Amino acid sequence: MRSKDNVMLRTAPFATPPAAAPRDKLARLEARGTAMQQVSEPSLPITLAAGAVAVLDAAEPARKVALSRALAARWRTGGMPIGQAQPPPRPARPVRPLLLPPRDMPKRRHGGSLAGRIALLHALAHIELNAIDLAWDILARWSTAGLPPAFFADWLGVAAEEAEHFALLASRLEALGSAYGELPAHDGLWEAAQATAHDLIARLAVVPLVLEARGLDVTPEMIRRLERAGDPDSALILERIYADEIGHVAVGARWFELLCRAQLLDPEATFHDRVRRHFAGALKPPFNDDARRRAGLPAGDYRALACAP
Ligand SMILES: [Fe+2]
Ligand SMILES: [Fe+2]
Repeated sequence: MRSKDNVMLRTAPFATPPAAAPRDKLARLEARGTAMQQVSEPSLPITLAAGAVAVLDAAEPARKVALSRALAARWRTGGMPIGQAQPPPRPARPVRPLLLPPRDMPKRRHGGSLAGRIALLHALAHIELNAIDLAWDILARWSTAGLPPAFFADWLGVAAEEAEHFALLASRLEALGSAYGELPAHDGLWEAAQATAHDLIARLAVVPLVLEARGLDVTPEMIRRLERAGDPDSALILERIYADEIGHVAVGARWFELLCRAQLLDPEATFHDRVRRHFAGALKPPFNDDARRRAGLPAGDYRALACAP
């Protein structure tokens, strides 16, 4: 599966085995994902907002992950002011994967064959790489909006988890004999960010509350499919991602509600308005009502925007 000219990806240390044997399987997979490049402390940007721009400007996925980890670690020690910065219009991307318009993407194979599982994990890794940038874009873009430190702490937590999701999937692709970058990927994922760059309430409505919530609807079936295909390691990674993503939707729901209340806007009516204006198409049932409820997403918000099943 490897392309000969893909030197960066061949040397990216996503799949280095852990030095010591962790106790359980997910710990082993997480340790694999953790063994990547490190960022030295003195080379880190001084503010969180400048750090966010550094992640967005980094083209290599391993660099985005390493910076995300180092910035989250610095923030947790209390040693990082928020600062102010302007994000780039689009995040930097590696040379591979080839980015294609959605209509030109090859049809995803849904079987449990090795090629089908690699195609699924590759598509998910690409979504997670975009998710890293989406979280950092929020941190940079609204660094000038006078939001409280809890807002930045929440989105930094999301960014750090997205980096782990990408690292786990990239590591798993390598374990299966492939690598992130070896298949073409969808170039439409940044559209939601561009459509909502002017309005944080719209960004929260469309990104965590529509797109990430959609992930909650479809992931349990993907996990079952991987288990049926005899691939428990990939299923375990998706279980970890699924649990974290409930938290990401919850962060989105909490700040959406808080910002609506602060501007004396009705949250349900505002959600409907922003989604209709900035998200093309209706929401697709069936919904995972249980996971959505755990994330604090009111059913009235999304059911009114659903297309017919
Ligand atoms: Fe994620
Ligand atoms: Fe997420």
